[in-house]
Amino acid sequence: MNVVLGITGGIAAYKGAEIISRLKKKGIDVKVIMTENAKQFISPLTLQTLSGYPVYYDTFKHATENYEIDHISLAKWADIMLIAPATANIISKVCHGIADDLLSTTIMATRGQVVFAPAMNTNMYKNPILQDNIEALKKRGYMFIPPAKGLLACGDVGEGRLAEVDDIVAEVVGLLRQRDDLKGTKVLVTAGPTREYIDPVRFISNPSSGRMGYAIADACRKRGAEVHLITGPTNIKTPVGVHVYRVETAYEMYDAVMSLFGQCQIVFKTAAVGDYRPDMVSSQKIKKDADDLVIRFVKNPDILKELGRRKKNQILVGFAAETENIEAYANKKLKEKNLDFIFVNDVSKTGAGFAGDTNGGILLCADGDRLEMSITKKEIIAQRILDVIIDRKLDK
Ligand code: C5P
Repeated sequence: MNVVLGITGGIAAYKGAEIISRLKKKGIDVKVIMTENAKQFISPLTLQTLSGYPVYYDTFKHATENYEIDHISLAKWADIMLIAPATANIISKVCHGIADDLLSTTIMATRGQVVFAPAMNTNMYKNPILQDNIEALKKRGYMFIPPAKGLLACGDVGEGRLAEVDDIVAEVVGLLRQRDDLKGTKVLVTAGPTREYIDPVRFISNPSSGRMGYAIADACRKRGAEVHLITGPTNIKTPVGVHVYRVETAYEMYDAVMSLFGQCQIVFKTAAVGDYRPDMVSSQKIKKDADDLVIRFVKNPDILKELGRRKKNQILVGFAAETENIEAYANKKLKEKNLDFIFVNDVSKTGAGFAGDTNGGILLCADGDRLEMSITKKEIIAQRILDVIIDRKLDK
């Protein structure tokens, strides 16, 4: 597990020494990149001694010494790049794609998770220019450990102190753990709506966007799982690095799920499967000659219930969208479908509906436990659900 610690020029740079020693005690390898300004605040020699590696600050030094290009080799080496303290300057440079020194160049080149721990004067921190840049970076997947409030080195009081070293170290350790806690596990995720055709140009469906299932698939992949995503029609981008199977009807989803089920250890049945389908599908477009049109619907197979019947050692996770008595209905499904977990959300609540970016609800466990999750981004709900399942079921 490798961390590149980027130290930029702020008074909190000296805390880099403690961050290195704390990470090393946890068995994490740390290499340090300093900006020129950071060298004014703490000596490279201190950081070199603590990390056990040369401290990097010159983009071209090793290029001439041993034909290595540091920003590329460090970028590849890093599982995580932690920038602590992060100045307004480095945050804003990265936001705008500026790569004019070793640290900013390495951040641009890495595929590892980049985490900023900002520290600066409170007015600088609150400056809307910086706040906009932070928001833009967050949208691109960069992470931030927010600064604490308190007396700042400049004498001002407010938000801007580097977060506690304990919290920074806990965040990094948590992220590294997440990176591979599903390594070697095959996961099956279903997502999106199904379409039940009436004739070649008409179907009944539901407003499921697929976002919750896609967030689960992406979170599993980021934790090292081999992910198979069976998806109904959606308009969203499929996550990178997962195997995608596109289906339309509940029956197609049933067949795809059954063919993959035997090789998977965890199944997330996030899809909003149509419960009924027309008993006859017209082979030609139905004409509007008649004043009324009666369609008889027949029941679709309950895919998850069938998995519950067939399951051996698999972990089955169901999703239930309800509008009333949400916990009672979900508990009933948990038992009837022989599930290990069920996440239930009240779709009548703002922020927990079908097609939005957020979700919230209750995760019920087969052992009788229940965990409430307040409304937040679907990506975060996905991570929280995984945390619970991994802690209780895999415990690697
Ligand atoms: O019974 P209900 O449809 O509310 O249960 C929801 C859960 O069951 C979801 O996980 C959904 O993917 C799954 N399901 C299924 N096949 C169906 C209906 C629902 O797998 N025909």
